[in-house]
Amino acid sequence: MALLETRGLTAHYGDFQALFGVDLDLAEGETMAVIGANGAGKTTLMRSIAGVLAQSPDMVRFDGRAIGAMAPDDIMAAGIAMVPEGRKLFPSLSVEENLLMGCHRRKVAGPWSLETVYGLFPILKERRHQPGTALSGGQQQMVSIGRALMSNPRVLLCDEISLGLAPVVIKDIYAAFPQIRETGASIVVVEQDIGQAMKVADRVHCMMEGRVTLSGKPGELSREAIHDAYFGAAA
Ligand SMILES: Nc1ncnc2c1ncn2[C@@H]1O[C@H](COP(=O)(O)OP(=O)(O)OP(=O)(O)O)[C@@H](O)[C@H]1O
Ligand SMILES: [Mg+2]
Repeated sequence: MALLETRGLTAHYGDFQALFGVDLDLAEGETMAVIGANGAGKTTLMRSIAGVLAQSPDMVRFDGRAIGAMAPDDIMAAGIAMVPEGRKLFPSLSVEENLLMGCHRRKVAGPWSLETVYGLFPILKERRHQPGTALSGGQQQMVSIGRALMSNPRVLLCDEISLGLAPVVIKDIYAAFPQIRETGASIVVVEQDIGQAMKVADRVHCMMEGRVTLSGKPGELSREAIHDAYFGAAA
């Protein structure tokens, strides 16, 4: 049975429909990548799972519960944490205070604490008393990931964590993923960087214009199939 599933998931912004019946399954311990061009609906999918966009209850199920209509705080308390697009640190708070914000809604025993997050990203320990905004983009992304981990989530949602970062920094950040996976967490990684998605994921789903257009294991998907699913067959 899937730990997290979407069924017939639709989403609207006013009159505009952004998702058209998305069906996805994430197994316990699995890493899923969702790829797609600008505007494909990736962030809308993540917001729908995290409760930022309210949906019908049954459109999102987590651990057997219908969570589609639950509030974001309750979804976080249930065990789904999001690393949002654009990092969204609290600018007036220090690195450490930002990290601690991650667990105020969910205090459960687990592998992640200030100590283990600092072990994962040692630079954050050195900078722990600085405001998050004084950090480089890559370090801010580490804070955002660390903040999500602090709730010891069962599902970690990561929305375009490589956006705007240099390749060497992206590599550093993704180097943390094996350790995150080892804890048994299930992960959804949204990426425009297809190569990065292929490296990290057990399964890849491509979205275009609010629909899943291709799904498979990274090794099974041809470049042509991905190109067509990403840009449309006519492109
Ligand atoms: N707040 C909003 N109001 C109106 N339309 C929106 C809003 N947010 C997103 N959309 C529209 O919904 C569609 C899907 O957007 P979404 O942000 O989910 O795409 P995305 O795949 O995350 O894109 P990107 O890679 O640029 O982040 C787009 O057409 C976008 O213009
Ligand atoms: Mg997005």
